[in-house]
Amino acid sequence: MKKIVIASKNADKIKEIRRVLKDMPIEIVSLAEFDNMPDAVEDGNTFEENALIKAKFFREKTGMACLADDSGLKVEALGGMPGVYSARFAGYHADDATNNQKLLDEMKKVNAIESPAAYHCALAFVDTDGTQIITHGSIEGIIKIAAQGNGGFGYDPYFYITPDKTMAQITTDEKNTISHRGKALRAMSEKLSAKFVP
Ligand code: IMP
Repeated sequence: MKKIVIASKNADKIKEIRRVLKDMPIEIVSLAEFDNMPDAVEDGNTFEENALIKAKFFREKTGMACLADDSGLKVEALGGMPGVYSARFAGYHADDATNNQKLLDEMKKVNAIESPAAYHCALAFVDTDGTQIITHGSIEGIIKIAAQGNGGFGYDPYFYITPDKTMAQITTDEKNTISHRGKALRAMSEKLSAKFVP
């Protein structure tokens, strides 16, 4: 059976990808199964560039076909920031709390209490023969400087999907149905089925 390594050690991400690709004749392997795997240098200017950098890097390191993702938040009032810097908006050792504080600080600097925003996700699949498949997904919303809910992760408590509900106030299943990552993953699943399902 075809083996595909996912360029992530995040158990929740692997679980979600396994669920979407469950009917395909492929075996999903996590990067966590490899010892001493170095990190890829994500120095691309776009989510797509970073996803491709990771997919090519881990394909090379593992010798397996690789599926990688890159995602983040773009806020209109901040000129599209944090964008590809979403995970490290507050610095290299940033966590959700410090990144969210930085988001609030930057909104304050431009006198914005809310702004249109969108989450984006790019997925890159690189096969052992070098063939590439890229898919994208996004969801639009509003960043408001008032947090609501404690579900999800990252910027979710500030990301309003309706005027009074944030991404942190819906279930994981609901989020997967509408999210940038869910959309990109379903698009990838369709393309992989066309390639691997006889
Ligand atoms: P990664 O692509 O998983 O490395 O995610 C990049 C960063 O974007 C995360 O660390 C979060 O800060 C942000 N991000 C991506 N997707 C989401 C989401 O669904 N909710 C909240 N934040 C997200």
